[in-house]
Amino acid sequence: MDQARKERLMKKYAYAQTAADAPGAGGPGPKAGRGPGGRGGRNMPVKKPANSKQAIRRLFSYLENDIGKLCVVFLCVIAGTISMLAGSYMLRPIINSLTQADGSSQKLFRSLLLMAAVYAVGILAQYFQQRIMISISQGALERIRNDLFCKVQRLPVRFYDTNNNGDIMSRFTNDLDAVGDMLNNTIVQIISGVINITGTLCLMLYTNVWLTIVTVLMVPLMLKLAGMVVTRSRRFYKAQQAALGTLNGYIEETITGQKVVKVFCHEEVAQEEFEFLNYDLRDKQIFAQFFGGIMGPVMNGSGQISYSVTAIVGGILCVLRGFDLGGLTVFVNYSRQFTRPINEFSMQMNTVFSALAGAERVFKIMDEEPEAPDSPEAVTLDPCQGHVVLQDVTFGYNPDKTILKHISFYAKPGQKIALVGSTGAGKTTITNLITRFYDIDSGSITIDGIDIRNIKRENLRSNIAMVLQDTHLFTGTIRENIRYGRLDATDEEVEAAAKLASAHHFIRRLEHGYDTMIEGDGANLSQGQRQLLNIARAAISKAPILILDEATSSVDTRTERHIEHGMDRLMATRTTFVIAHRLSTVRNANAIMVLENGEIIERGDHDELLAMKGRYYELYTGKTELD
Ligand SMILES: Nc1ncnc2c1ncn2[C@@H]1O[C@H](COP(=O)(O)OP(=O)(O)OP(=O)(O)O)[C@@H](O)[C@H]1O
Ligand SMILES: [Mg+2]
Repeated sequence: MDQARKERLMKKYAYAQTAADAPGAGGPGPKAGRGPGGRGGRNMPVKKPANSKQAIRRLFSYLENDIGKLCVVFLCVIAGTISMLAGSYMLRPIINSLTQADGSSQKLFRSLLLMAAVYAVGILAQYFQQRIMISISQGALERIRNDLFCKVQRLPVRFYDTNNNGDIMSRFTNDLDAVGDMLNNTIVQIISGVINITGTLCLMLYTNVWLTIVTVLMVPLMLKLAGMVVTRSRRFYKAQQAALGTLNGYIEETITGQKVVKVFCHEEVAQEEFEFLNYDLRDKQIFAQFFGGIMGPVMNGSGQISYSVTAIVGGILCVLRGFDLGGLTVFVNYSRQFTRPINEFSMQMNTVFSALAGAERVFKIMDEEPEAPDSPEAVTLDPCQGHVVLQDVTFGYNPDKTILKHISFYAKPGQKIALVGSTGAGKTTITNLITRFYDIDSGSITIDGIDIRNIKRENLRSNIAMVLQDTHLFTGTIRENIRYGRLDATDEEVEAAAKLASAHHFIRRLEHGYDTMIEGDGANLSQGQRQLLNIARAAISKAPILILDEATSSVDTRTERHIEHGMDRLMATRTTFVIAHRLSTVRNANAIMVLENGEIIERGDHDELLAMKGRYYELYTGKTELD
């Protein structure tokens, strides 16, 4: 990849370019979750994992339901740990009896048998502890996934307009997997570690006080070394999870846009960009795994030092103070056992950091502002007549750019209102406001005289049927997809809606008719057929307000006329908004609004507008192209 392209990609993904190959600070780039995270970020602000504590607390709140099971795990861990400790202590009399002349083989055999039984109890306890813990952690993950999905269902359209789908999906998969890994093992390890350390400490004190002091004094050294590695690796794990999200986003985008990639022969470019992101992920993973990985050797090394010092001091005590050999053997064993939980937990740090980074990303979505809740005075329109009034509506997606300016109109039930105008004029934006995908900045939108902000959102949307400009179908049969518009519709009603939308003919010709499975957003259908199904889905709904945004743009003109005739009956009692570039379809509208740069510049019916010889006339006669 040439340097210029590399620089462009770095800019695209908000990279800190200096110290590119240096192990600098990680942390997401300026646009958290979208950029792959800063690399070599000496000149980037280091984002401290300030949320870690909160993330841990929130993760634990998901275990609250399983307190009973956790208690059983706790008991199993205690039983397991105690039996392991007791088993190892039993070595003392066994060794002493071996070194003393009076030891009988029968006594030895009995001691060994008892020791085996004690260990067997420990193994059994560990087995149950593992099984129960996995069921607890998988249950917690299930609840987190449910909450996350529930949350993403409630997020405003604005969130999806500004976030990468693949990155959002990565939070459901990679990030939650990382959390699962931690829940499976780490909690048990913490509990068993604490019990182990306490139990071992008691036994060590019982065996020899001086040696205990020596062993305990080594602990700060180990913790210091672990701390040094931990502070470094923590940030790399955050960067790793963010990079994983970006890579997933890119994969998702490229797979969904595969046809565009192919037709523009962008395979190589896509491959290059993928390699760039993949390299970045590899880079972040290397740093993360490296620091996670060196924890083992560092801790083993310091454990060995502690072990050797204990053995030397113990040996001296044996020689000078008559400390028994069995006591020394079990003590050396204990010193291992004492430092082992610290070692193990330190080595688990990579799992913990991936999990915390993942949990933070998951909770970040959970903390996103949902669609504003309905106001306490919000009412339900029952029944809704369909009087839609826009009064001096002004709106911008961003505060610094106004898209719609002073829009006013009144649409009555049974009326067909057409919104026409050039591309980007603001037609779809008006529909986004009526459905409250976005809230207006000033003015008012009322339905049946009630401001839509005072209507329960669900009720408002259930009174609107819509064919979106981008068609979308779900995996399922054609029948299920049409029924999406009204779940209690009968098969006859599904067929009637399909007939209205002129979809019945093509559906009948399919091998499995209405039971044909739709794959990949309708990839096995033509674009026009997909639109017909989208129309049928809207037609089956009994909503009194109907919005058709370029609903027939991919349908041939003859079918379009059929749909018009079919829908006429449907529209007779509803308030219908039609957006179309093909102006022949809106000729019979009661009122046509011509939008230009977010303003209504002309209004009237077809004949009046033609007579005006203004913008509509230009659009209709095609004169604009000649201008
Ligand atoms: N989610 C969004 N965030 C920011 N700006 C947006 C967003 N959606 C649309 N816009 C901007 O708002 C303006 C109006 O867009 P809109 O989709 O309403 O146009 P339209 O009239 O429906 O055009 P078309 O005929 O192409 O469908 C455009 O300039 C567009 O760039
Ligand atoms: Mg549009």
